Amino acid sequence: MKKRVAILISGSGSNMIALAESMRGDHPARPCLVLSNSPLAGGLAKAQALGIPTAVVDHRPHKGDRAGFETELLARIEEAGPDLIALAGFMRVLTGDFVARFEGRMLNIHPSLLPKYKGLDTHARAIAAGDTEAGCTVHEVTAALDDGPILGQARVPILSDDTAETLAARVLPMEHALYPAVLRRLCDGNRAPIYLP
Ligand code: GAR
Repeated sequence: MKKRVAILISGSGSNMIALAESMRGDHPARPCLVLSNSPLAGGLAKAQALGIPTAVVDHRPHKGDRAGFETELLARIEEAGPDLIALAGFMRVLTGDFVARFEGRMLNIHPSLLPKYKGLDTHARAIAAGDTEAGCTVHEVTAALDDGPILGQARVPILSDDTAETLAARVLPMEHALYPAVLRRLCDGNRAPIYLP
């Protein structure tokens, strides 16, 4: 039986598409849900075009009530019955209680070479620090932000004239290669990290 993968997004969903398009043919998983915390996320229409069920749990009516947001989020996710959850540009911080429910079954992609630059503005911070390389990391989600066992990393050089935007544009295609590779390996029961290139 194919594993079911729920993908959580907040924005354009390019990583979601890379994951969804990888789950074809003899791949051991299939996308069962694309869920966004924003009704405006561009990835929702793209998921629908791929024939994937979508849902929105808008965080804004739950301002100041994270438990209420997560109760609704959990309900939508459990309806879809996923084996794995892939956070793909999902820009809400999840509580330890929520994360604990999916221990070992929730992944995230983060645009830095973790443990460097947890949080936001990763590329600008790497450039400001004078780093010579940047990249992205796929990791298991644990209660601590952008933490958890590393399942894969991809590196790119930082060029002398890079801006946060040009660097992000160089890292993003590596995200699209790394995340499906990690998902595939994980579905086969292998948690050994993948390093690209
Ligand atoms: C990606 O660069 C992803 O690594 C980043 O958001 C972008 C989403 O793009 N995630 C984070 O910053 C999580 N802290 P996408 O919607 O096109 O996949």
